[in-house]
Amino acid sequence: MEELGLTGWPPEPVRTERLVLRGSEARDRAAFVELLASPEVHTYLGGARPRAALERELPGVPERWPGSFVVELDGAMIGQILLRRAPAHQRPAAAGKADLGYLFLPRAWGLGYASEACAAALDWLDGALPGEPVVLTTQSANTGSMRLAAKLGFVEVERFEAWGAEQWLGMRAPVAPSG
Ligand SMILES: CC(C)(COP(=O)(O)OP(=O)(O)OC[C@H]1O[C@@H](n2cnc3c(N)ncnc32)[C@H](O)[C@@H]1OP(=O)(O)O)[C@@H](O)C(=O)NCCC(=O)NCCS
Repeated sequence: MEELGLTGWPPEPVRTERLVLRGSEARDRAAFVELLASPEVHTYLGGARPRAALERELPGVPERWPGSFVVELDGAMIGQILLRRAPAHQRPAAAGKADLGYLFLPRAWGLGYASEACAAALDWLDGALPGEPVVLTTQSANTGSMRLAAKLGFVEVERFEAWGAEQWLGMRAPVAPSG
């Protein structure tokens, strides 16, 4: 995965009804350790990383790269949204396209925060890179993620086998330019 070529990162924080999306900061480090070490979060993502290694190796400001949004609720990080480009995606339909990923702490699941945050991130991307289609890959067994993808307007392109499981590739058509 590569960065999307976004300029002026981090952007002005994006505010939704309940959440703020912003670039990462030093105060997010403990939440990043929790997120990346959580076996529950990584059930369909190929395994969590050992907490001790994360504590040692994560930079002071983790995941500060253009396209990596921290999702904040009441002043604390609850998740991360990743907007990247996949030039070498193994599926031709997704190669070179903008790609959406999302990870939320389990205590924030089931409350609609992921859908609220991802919809805002996609709106933001429509403004930053107008006309870009966005792809998303998730294990089809990841039912929460599959429901979220549908709510966000992703439609199935294909299913394929990779990493020992069936994967679902979805795409969201670009928003038609107004006027
Ligand atoms: C995938 C993941 C982000 C989904 O999180 P989530 O909290 O289930 O997603 P949503 O924000 O869509 O919220 C889901 C539920 O909240 C409920 N909800 C409660 N209050 C709500 C509100 N105020 N507004 C909207 N929904 C609300 C909804 O009914 C919804 O349930 P439904 O999907 O059965 O309709 C989360 O499970 C996760 O982080 N998993 C680990 C990482 C992962 O697997 N990522 C995928 C790889 S890209």
